[in-house]
Amino acid sequence: MKNNKQRVLIFDTTLRDGEQSPGASLNHREKLEIAHQLAAMKVDIIEAGFPIASPDDFRAVKEIAGTVKGPVIAGLARCLNKDIQRCAEAVAPAKKPRIHVFLATSAIHREFKLKKAQHEIVKQAVASIKYARRFCTDVEFSPEDASRTEPDFLAQVLEAAIDAGAGTINIPDTVGYAIPSEFGDLIAYLHDEVPNIGDAIISVHCHNDLGLAVANSLIAVQNGARQIECTINGLGERAGNCSLEEVVMAMKTRSDLFSTVATGINTKMLHQASRLVSRLTGLTVQRNKAIVGANAFAHEAGVHQDGMLKERTTYEIMRPTDIGIDDTELVLGKHSGRHAFKHQLSKLGVHLDKEELENAFQQFIKLADKKKHVYDDDLLAIAQEQMSEMAEAFVIDYLHVAAGTGTVPTATVRLKKGSLVIQDAACGDGPVDAALKTIDRITEIQGQLLDFSLQAITVGKDAMGEVSVRVAFGDRTISAKSASTDIVEASARAYLSCVNRLLSDMADEKKSTRKKKAKK
Ligand code: KIV
Ligand code: ZN
Repeated sequence: MKNNKQRVLIFDTTLRDGEQSPGASLNHREKLEIAHQLAAMKVDIIEAGFPIASPDDFRAVKEIAGTVKGPVIAGLARCLNKDIQRCAEAVAPAKKPRIHVFLATSAIHREFKLKKAQHEIVKQAVASIKYARRFCTDVEFSPEDASRTEPDFLAQVLEAAIDAGAGTINIPDTVGYAIPSEFGDLIAYLHDEVPNIGDAIISVHCHNDLGLAVANSLIAVQNGARQIECTINGLGERAGNCSLEEVVMAMKTRSDLFSTVATGINTKMLHQASRLVSRLTGLTVQRNKAIVGANAFAHEAGVHQDGMLKERTTYEIMRPTDIGIDDTELVLGKHSGRHAFKHQLSKLGVHLDKEELENAFQQFIKLADKKKHVYDDDLLAIAQEQMSEMAEAFVIDYLHVAAGTGTVPTATVRLKKGSLVIQDAACGDGPVDAALKTIDRITEIQGQLLDFSLQAITVGKDAMGEVSVRVAFGDRTISAKSASTDIVEASARAYLSCVNRLLSDMADEKKSTRKKKAKK
């Protein structure tokens, strides 16, 4: 590392803890796409999933382990042999595999969840770490709810974990309860009091329930932590995890206060990674989100604009280009050829196979005929449609809506599913409602629209409209996004993506039940 700075490892858990965000489920193809982006951005460790949790999680971890080069590929496991075996199998194809085992240590978890005494916790953690080491030399241990664990007991567990072979010990603030001063003190205490701490890397994993995940991670680094667990866009359980882009940019921008450490992240890919994750999870980034929100570099107040024109640094602590917002975005048009199209997609980090690329190019030509300028966001939207269409069950073949003042909004929709073609029509409260109701009739699946939002993602009157939906199917909630210059079409596509995701989850579940039955 340049200037003899110590590396702070970036452990990305977007595909594991991030995917636990309500409504953020990703299929294995989408997970692979995100993993490639993380690797290109030079993340050190990718936590690809929790292999025992579902067949799709197992498949995604295995696929990522087999194809994504560069980072360590980790899988999560409880301190149970069956979890560890499954995890070991999933990460095995990786050049640098890691098994991450966790067990709760706080009094509240010991008493109410695990019903175990302190000595039993130590015994189980040690046995599991030793068991995991049989499969993999790189083992990480997390004492869940560490920040609410008695510090002396925590130190005792960690000493035993390191002796048993854990090379990384992770300190989770599982419920986002810690305040920076106390979390920093805890890391300093462990750094000083755990006798064999020098044999392991101290990691932190902070949740954002009080909005302090980034602050807690930063103070941990100042007290000796050398691995930060985080997610793109701060996705994660409840209020989310430490946001990767915020923590990385904080250390870079305030390198005066972090002069002895640095991450290896290529920050110029942060913006792109944020958009990719938002698009694939269907979870929109709030406009005023630090670093990657649409307003993060927008200056509205006259006095700020005046200051900026005189000297940029009066009001700007980072440059948009630092996170990859390119001032010189290449705008494509109907005269752009395949080569320019392919080149721009690969610059955006999009990997499509030959057939997908050709289909995407045809869609691009159609779009370029409708609108003069095709921007990066338009291209990403086209690529995303391709990727999901390949995996989808139902595809829209035809959509027509009739709406206006004094007319009953009516939609006619034709869907294709393999060789099956079904057409139907329905009325609704508006053109979108009519289109979604028709989809319900054709698919025979009733979804309940919980959230619907529309955002213009490119500029001009002919801008692409991006529709985000959150749909409930019984007790299951699924989110998706789609973009088009026609917002009714974007709405129908986003809704249909949720239906397809549901069908694919149900098919996976059926398969695994069948397998379990066959084993018995
Ligand atoms: O928040 C947490 O405690 C976790 C562990 C599994 C590391 O996600
Ligand atoms: Zn967590």
